Amino acid sequence: MTASLWPTGLGPVACVVGARPNFMKMAPILRAFAAHDPPLPALLVHTGQHYDRDMSDRLFEELGLPRPDINLEVGSGSHAVQTAEIMRRFEPVVDEKGPSAVLVVGDVNSTLACSLVAVKKGIPVVHVESGLRSHDRTMPEEINRVLTDQIADRLYTTERGAMANLAREGISAERIGFVGNVMIDSLLGNRRRARPPGEILAAAGADAALLAGAAEYGLVTLHRPANVDQPETLEPLLATLREVSERLPLVFALHPRTRAHIERFGLRGLAESPRMILLPPQGYLEMLGLMAGATVVLTDSGGLQEETTALGIPCLTLRENTERPITVEEGTNTVVGRERAAILGGVDEIMLGGGKRGRVPELWDGRAAERIAADLGRWLPRRHGPGGN
Ligand code: UD1
Repeated sequence: MTASLWPTGLGPVACVVGARPNFMKMAPILRAFAAHDPPLPALLVHTGQHYDRDMSDRLFEELGLPRPDINLEVGSGSHAVQTAEIMRRFEPVVDEKGPSAVLVVGDVNSTLACSLVAVKKGIPVVHVESGLRSHDRTMPEEINRVLTDQIADRLYTTERGAMANLAREGISAERIGFVGNVMIDSLLGNRRRARPPGEILAAAGADAALLAGAAEYGLVTLHRPANVDQPETLEPLLATLREVSERLPLVFALHPRTRAHIERFGLRGLAESPRMILLPPQGYLEMLGLMAGATVVLTDSGGLQEETTALGIPCLTLRENTERPITVEEGTNTVVGRERAAILGGVDEIMLGGGKRGRVPELWDGRAAERIAADLGRWLPRRHGPGGN
């Protein structure tokens, strides 16, 4: 009934998800759209960039995401093929559904591909999690971030520093809204449902003796091409993790990209040990539980850097840089790079001293999606109204 209060002739907001880290960002946004007065109509489009049950459907279920209205089923491919295929399949959806805006989150190929389709059709692009910069243009995500922000009409940021990055790139302040972090909306909303780590490890068949003594463990995730695509990088990283595991048992949730490379480079023997438990990709509630129970998280994921900061769990980032500096300045994150000595030193410090305490950054309060819905509820009708551009 109230939907009729959405200005006549204004189409739904096409909300795009593609890869795993998009799902926890979109779930609170869709909920906030539904709770807005009047509700903001949404059309959920899944590009199918991630498609395995463990990488997609399971997270939809755990996060309470509705079934996508449309699944483009693009699957895997080179960056060019994947991006082009998403564009090719998204364009007819836009033509048919006439969305009032295309809302994208994060920095994956689906984010950029759908933004490009929209902007070329004169449809406003809304980018959630804009302005983050690693200043490392060898990262595919950095290219996706910079280009999406350039063509976005409305940009929502998670930390104040993002504004300066956007200003340097010539993006005017009136297009930007500092709203907080939708990923943390999901974390706070689901924290109580997190699955206990003991249950997950037992279900994975982890050695009972280890489990009994493994009240303390480190959690590992790796999937960045820079870390896992070359044997010269992956092998020493795994060797270092193995050394860490002699001090602290490790639980390693393996991304399909990483698993494939471990197999291809013949490194399984190095990755697997009684003190290094390899798990398949985990669901959202499982990862929350594993993170919350860990002594330290070793990762190259952007999302985990933020989630550990929100949970107050020490994080060592196995990269040379981060696009999320607030997790280092205010949170529990330390960027240690890939060198053995730095990683072992970081772990020792945490085991001896407990690691950085940190505080939860401004507006990471569980209400970011609500702020986005409130802003869009005002902005979109204006943008489409007389004189809007
Ligand atoms: C993508 C994102 C990255 C994000 C990550 C989270 C880009 C450029 N990268 O990286 O920013 O941090 O998702 O996971 O968009 N595969 C499967 N099953 C799946 C999906 C992928 O087996 O459901 C395998 C395929 O072999 C595929 C490979 O993983 O080729 C990589 O997938 P892809 O989506 O290209 O990139 P990610 O490494 O997942």
